[in-house]
Amino acid sequence: MKIKTNVLIIGSGIAGLYAALNIDPKYEVYVVTKKNSTESNTNYAQGGIASVIDSSDSFQKHINDSVIAGAGLCRQNIVEIMVKEGPQRINDLINLGTNFSYKNGNLDLAKEGGHSEKRIVHAADLTGSEVERSLLEAVNRRRNIHLLENHIAIDLITEHNVLNLRNQVSDTRHCWGAYILDINNNIVITFISNVTILATGGLGQVYLHTTNPQIATGDGFAIAYRAGAKIGNMEFIQFHPTSFYSNEVGSIFNPSFLISEAVRGFGGKLRLKTGEEFMHKYDSRLELAPRDIVARAIDNELKKRGDDYVFLDVTFKNSDDIKEHFPHIYKRCLEKGIDITQDYIPVVPAAHYSCGGVLVDSNSHSCLNGLYACGEISMTGVHGANRLASNSLLEALVFSHRAANQINLNLNSIDSIPEIPEWDDSGTLSADEKVMISHSFREVKQCMWDYVGIVRSDLRLQRAEDRIKLLHKEVEELYKKTKVFEDILELRNLIICSLIIIESAKLRKESRGLHYTLDYPELLDPQETIIQNIIL
Ligand code: FAD
Ligand code: SIN
Repeated sequence: MKIKTNVLIIGSGIAGLYAALNIDPKYEVYVVTKKNSTESNTNYAQGGIASVIDSSDSFQKHINDSVIAGAGLCRQNIVEIMVKEGPQRINDLINLGTNFSYKNGNLDLAKEGGHSEKRIVHAADLTGSEVERSLLEAVNRRRNIHLLENHIAIDLITEHNVLNLRNQVSDTRHCWGAYILDINNNIVITFISNVTILATGGLGQVYLHTTNPQIATGDGFAIAYRAGAKIGNMEFIQFHPTSFYSNEVGSIFNPSFLISEAVRGFGGKLRLKTGEEFMHKYDSRLELAPRDIVARAIDNELKKRGDDYVFLDVTFKNSDDIKEHFPHIYKRCLEKGIDITQDYIPVVPAAHYSCGGVLVDSNSHSCLNGLYACGEISMTGVHGANRLASNSLLEALVFSHRAANQINLNLNSIDSIPEIPEWDDSGTLSADEKVMISHSFREVKQCMWDYVGIVRSDLRLQRAEDRIKLLHKEVEELYKKTKVFEDILELRNLIICSLIIIESAKLRKESRGLHYTLDYPELLDPQETIIQNIIL
């Protein structure tokens, strides 16, 4: 089955939906998403969206804070674009019907780690689900946008898939759409599009402990890599310092519940199990130092003492204020037996965000003609070696808007598309060895957590690479003889992402931002890590 469209968008988080809404309604847009439409990292975002709103704040302060957090690797001109276009994008959301929190008639601005001013626009502590709700409602009102749930992207269509172009070595490859598995009907649809936007979000599920929901298996990174796109700075995985510690045995895919950075912005104190504070030993900004520093400090204290968690304490704050600012966190912790107005919250770091991704320009265009990447999957250059809190939703808004604008300008002048073959799965069989898949998921996630986490070393990286390469070989063999299904696609992508992270980490012979290695503690000249799968 073939579907032809002007624009194909893969992913229905903030980046995919906001891009769709900004495409000129005269063009036809398909948004495909692998689960139900709300299931995304966006839907779980708590703290909010950073933007210069208050008169005491300035663009320059937000730029400086972003660049300082980015530890020497931010692209300054791109940070400037993001910061300066931020307030317009917040206004767009308000006009689309997003209900942010207000105080005395003005947007209520919160503070988070690394920010010198209060600038986090939020909807209590459920910002993401409110943004997702308003974007989905707006998308549903648009007749040119078709949203297909339970459709998972397998691979992009490039010269590589077209028989007579397969061997053409070219610096100017094209993307002409993607092969998409319709999960309910078990058929692969050939989507042929003038332009494709990858908006598939993050890869937290690569790690055993993560704040990311189950959809975050890094599909877009792997898909883009297989198609020959450049991928940058993938060693910079952000570990959020404070996820709720639980010793319940659940599914390995269950995310850890996030305790928002806004709780520390509100005055929350980190304490050891003994009740002692410890952040003064690590940074003069204490609990509000950038995330890499706070996560490493917690990791260090845990390893030194053999403890499983530290505490986050807000019990000294007014209990009505706590409940008003953090109704969701209050409720979820209460369900787990912790009344945060009276009890310390047990917390541990967990994988949270990928600062690197598909390398794109200031309009989110990748190195493949016709392929854009927006949101967490992209590397625009605004995060450098460590993302500033609440800059992710902002980046997704600003650069998906810019991508849509450029697409609107260029769609009429796009070259014709060659004949694209349909998906060929002749000779493959339905999988009967599903236990191997679930076992391999666990192995990858455990291995990445143990060896490619907050503190790395040459030995740990090598160990991880050796083990994951073995799994890669086994899973590729299984993939070749099996009819595609969701789990094998995700496992395959998770493995490719792991190998990309390890390769990038091995290339960085220094400690910078989120990449800290015992073998190279010092800083070198700042350089981005770019890798590319050369397809011939
Ligand atoms: P997502 O919102 O993750 O959307 C990706 C979409 O792609 C999903 O619909 C998914 O189903 C779909 N998809 C994935 N693979 C495929 C495939 N193969 N085929 C089809 N569809 C696919 N950032 C902030 O700035 N502020 C915050 O307060 C904040 N809080 C956070 C709290 C939590 C718990 C988490 C996990 C993240 C938080 N972040 C926050 C980060 C931020 O939420 C994400 O970076 C951002 O939402 C990513 O948006 P996105 O549109 O790029 O991806
Ligand atoms: C949080 O609320 O702590 C998450 C904010 C972010 O990831 O930027």
